[in-house]
Amino acid sequence: MIVYFSATGNSRHIAESIAEALNDTAVSIEDTASDFTLSDGENFGIITPFYWWQLSLPMREYLNNLTLKNSSYTYLVVTYGTTPGCCGEDARKILKKRGIELNASFSIRMPDNFTPIFDLSDPVKVKTELLFSEAQTSSVIRRIRSMETGDNTERKTPYAVRLVMNPMYNYERNTKHFYAENSCIGCGICAKNCPVQAIEIVDNKPVWIKKQCALCLRCLHHCPEFAIQFTQGFSKKHGQYIYPVNKN
Ligand SMILES: Cc1cc2nc3c(=O)[nH]c(=O)nc-3n(C[C@H](O)[C@H](O)[C@H](O)COP(=O)(O)O)c2cc1C
Repeated sequence: MIVYFSATGNSRHIAESIAEALNDTAVSIEDTASDFTLSDGENFGIITPFYWWQLSLPMREYLNNLTLKNSSYTYLVVTYGTTPGCCGEDARKILKKRGIELNASFSIRMPDNFTPIFDLSDPVKVKTELLFSEAQTSSVIRRIRSMETGDNTERKTPYAVRLVMNPMYNYERNTKHFYAENSCIGCGICAKNCPVQAIEIVDNKPVWIKKQCALCLRCLHHCPEFAIQFTQGFSKKHGQYIYPVNKN
């Protein structure tokens, strides 16, 4: 069994690639319960993006409620843009509280969908990054197949970095930073797909009804009019991104 969270498709693609290669099943945490009793010899995979030096918030919350029985080998694969930092340690600590041993962690570098900072407006650059990630994915699949153990994530940083970055993440995920431009057609895709139900459509425009969200940027990247923007940085200039189609 493989569970994943994905806002713009990178982690979903990795989850589905691993599932296909290992004859396993990949399900989104938005569509499944968090209570598993596996059959003998079955493995458990967790695939998630990395946000601000920590596992994505939806995945953190999911793992905080996870009940897992009988897993032969439990592994984490994090997709990231620049540095996976302390993701292995972050997951290990969360799972330990649930009485679950994390046997292995891996990371795969993919286009960085935090477009307020990173520029995904050049389709050639994005394609090159995706090609590189395919090679990494094949390698990670081989290592999962051989049940390699340990924290195999790249560019590791001490766990303390996560603690330092946490207040910054909490500030940035304040929904006051989001707005919709006049080009918004009120289609409601943003509200329907928000993983934390932070958006409602009022008078044909999105309204952020929660003080904070996960900051996954699914609303921004999936908006058919590219009307949703983030006040900090350069989200408009840096383009939209959804794996596998770059819509710039
Ligand atoms: C709010 C936010 C914070 C992020 N922080 C990091 C980070 O700290 N380090 C990193 O390497 N990538 C970071 N990223 C990039 C994502 O981890 C990366 O693009 C990931 O593959 C997206 O996965 P998805 O398409 O499955 O949603 C961040 C992305 C977002 C939206």
